[in-house]
Amino acid sequence: MGTLLLLSVATLCFASAQHQGLIDYLEQRLVAIEGRISVWYEQSNRYASELREFKQQMIGLTENLEEGHEALHSDVEGVVTRVERVERELDYMETQNLAPPCVDMDRNLIEQEITTLKEINMAKYEKLSDCSDMISSFKAMKIVKKAGGPKGVWLKDTASGSGKVYVFNGTSGDVLYEFGTMRDLAASAGLSRGRPIKLPFPWSGMGHTVYKGYAYYVVEGMTFELIKYDLQNGSVADSAVFPADDQVRPVEPGDMTHILN
Ligand SMILES: *[C@@H]1O[C@H](CO)[C@@H](O)[C@H](O)[C@H]1NC(C)=O
Ligand SMILES: *[C@@H]1O[C@H](CO)[C@@H](O)[C@H](O)[C@H]1NC(C)=O
Repeated sequence: MGTLLLLSVATLCFASAQHQGLIDYLEQRLVAIEGRISVWYEQSNRYASELREFKQQMIGLTENLEEGHEALHSDVEGVVTRVERVERELDYMETQNLAPPCVDMDRNLIEQEITTLKEINMAKYEKLSDCSDMISSFKAMKIVKKAGGPKGVWLKDTASGSGKVYVFNGTSGDVLYEFGTMRDLAASAGLSRGRPIKLPFPWSGMGHTVYKGYAYYVVEGMTFELIKYDLQNGSVADSAVFPADDQVRPVEPGDMTHILN
């Protein structure tokens, strides 16, 4: 009985020792777990605070964005109201003036006109100062008809309006040529197309004319004689003789009137 008790006490002692070891082990584990937990706790706290900071930043940014958006919105609204006002003013001006005001275009037109004026003035100045231009004007002169000799005259009967052209070839001769029109003279090879009119007396000099169907010309010989020749029926209608001494005296109107009429 005593032995059994001793044994049981020993067993009990052993068991309690075993139990103590387990408790120590468990305590160690618990401390380790507590340490880890505290580390996690710290970490999660840090994350949480970082997340909070991040949230705060995001909220600030969002607020800034919203403010910017609102500012933009109000700016757009201001622009829209201004555009509407301009449109209203334009409408009003259009009702006031039928032609819409185009100040810029007018300025362009004025500038164009000024430039054109300047160019015209420049061209005028160049024309005045440029000799080559004058020479080119001479170049532009065309010889449309050449007939007969270098001297002589062609003339029209301006009083009759017949359009006939008369050619006195040279400074002397007794045949003058009559052309129906200026076109005939231009188309004629030389004076071939002209109607030759043989004069009863040769003319001399250049003092002749054709007037109302009569040729007036000077016959020079011993006397200074003026002939009025009827071109229609080929007869001397009248004549006037002046003394040779009077040649130097210009023929006065009075001398001519008796023969012209
Ligand atoms: C015209 O006169 C020139 C000389 O002056 C002469 O050579 C020429 O043959 C004349 N022409 C005619 C058609 O009479
Ligand atoms: C020529 O005609 C005029 C009138 O035109 C006439 O007086 C004159 O007698 C005429 N001469 C000849 C020669 O036919």
